[in-house]
Amino acid sequence: MSSKKTLTTQAGTPVNNYEDSQSVGERGPLLLQDYFLQEKLAHFNRERIPERVVHAKGSGAYGTFTVTHDITKYTRAKIFSEIGKQTKMFTRFSTVGGEKGSADAERDPRGFALKFYTEAGNWDLVGNNTPVFFIKDAKKFPDFIHTQKRDPYTNCKSATMVWDYWSLNPESLHQVLILMSDRGTPKTFRHMNGYGSHAFSMINADNERVYVKFHYKTMQGIENFTDAEATEMRGIDPDHAQRDLVKSIDEKNFPKYALKIQVMTLEEAKTFKWNPFDVTKVWSHNDYPLQDVGVIELNENPDNYFAHVEQSAFAPSNLVDGIGFSPDKMLQGRILSYADAHRYRIGVNFDALPVNKCPFMVNNYHRDGAMRSDGNGGSAPNYFPNSFDDIEVDDQAKGINYALESNLVGYFDGNENDHYTQPGDLFRIFTPEQKANTISNIVGAMSGIEGDKKDEIINRQLCHWFRANVELGMGVAKGLGVTIDPSLLRQ
Ligand code: HEM
Repeated sequence: MSSKKTLTTQAGTPVNNYEDSQSVGERGPLLLQDYFLQEKLAHFNRERIPERVVHAKGSGAYGTFTVTHDITKYTRAKIFSEIGKQTKMFTRFSTVGGEKGSADAERDPRGFALKFYTEAGNWDLVGNNTPVFFIKDAKKFPDFIHTQKRDPYTNCKSATMVWDYWSLNPESLHQVLILMSDRGTPKTFRHMNGYGSHAFSMINADNERVYVKFHYKTMQGIENFTDAEATEMRGIDPDHAQRDLVKSIDEKNFPKYALKIQVMTLEEAKTFKWNPFDVTKVWSHNDYPLQDVGVIELNENPDNYFAHVEQSAFAPSNLVDGIGFSPDKMLQGRILSYADAHRYRIGVNFDALPVNKCPFMVNNYHRDGAMRSDGNGGSAPNYFPNSFDDIEVDDQAKGINYALESNLVGYFDGNENDHYTQPGDLFRIFTPEQKANTISNIVGAMSGIEGDKKDEIINRQLCHWFRANVELGMGVAKGLGVTIDPSLLRQ
């Protein structure tokens, strides 16, 4: 018998002709009975799944997380249980606003999502390359994202929408400043930091809780494009960062990132100058120094992009015992949003796909649904409680009881309007070159504002730049050709 493989239909029956359709006569019409023609065309028509509504363009790799420092005084999460412990993980990098075919060198935050396959369940840390975000309430997210996408009339990206929204939402200023600096165009995914951005909780074996922020610092060093270099790269190679990641892993030049945490006690959270759960603010590194935790090494390219990267599904709701949420209103909104997006984008059984599946135990009574391909629980009971299996609730995983600060129900805007101190502090520590590049990038971006409201939008945004820092405001005003009377300015 020949050892050659035969071409088959999806049902496994041999195909006797792969390229010629069955026809009536040499030049005649085709026959319905050539089912393989139908199967091929029909399967092809269904090759695409919806792209992610945000972060559509991305690149991914598997890796290993190794604990280098003991943080068991803060957390009982098994992933951190001992120095030297290794956990398999998957990372997906992305840009935010563009479509799946958009360029890697766009000025945009970069997504930096981590999935750790821990023995206590999958832990997802779905972060960005910036420590803060544009808005501080999840309810604002869809409108904010609409401004980053295409204008409904022109179907083009619109600087007018972008700056109109930002200028009307000055809580965005900190993130916008970072975005407009050269950190808005990282050279590759290997040359940028990642941040969990939100405050999370950690709970230790004695049920003591602290708040933490996660940082993952590039060990390759930070490298950014200037605006001109990024523009050039978008033309030369829209996939340059994808290409760079695959190549460096293929060449065994494995990208590494040092995982660190900042820790804030519950008492400190009460007296923090701002709301410690406001994701538009950072925690000062002087007051809350970075503490080493471990090293992430990306060392394996997935063998199939669609199976692993496109179908990967990260969710801030995927936490493990020893790590908890905080009251951050953005984080709370994200708990709902991601798994909902996955059910729409991939289907209800998205978490049974190899890249998303917990390789350790998964025991529950969810059954059936589209594309259930993992055995569906076999003949085991499909209800709880039952008299047949030995699956139990884990009391320890209940976490700890804690009191909330208020029992007043309402819509609160945080009553906190200092959107300027932290962006001002950031601008002040920029080098002269960073200041000049940032101002030039802002001027370039704001120059795209057009239409009847142009002056109103520019003036409103200029006020925000001035309130953060006069040198910044003056630089942007000058670049845009707006004359400012210096006597009106207070330092
Ligand atoms: C992706 C919603 C804020 C980082 C997504 C997706 C949704 C979403 C629906 C697509 C998920 C998918 O189809 O797989 C939201 C909402 C937010 C929010 C409602 C605010 C309330 C943030 C913040 C960060 C972030 C603050 C970073 C700190 C990411 C990343 C991805 C993503 C990295 C891509 C994950 C991947 O690679 O698959 N977001 N997001 N998002 N989001 Fe958010």
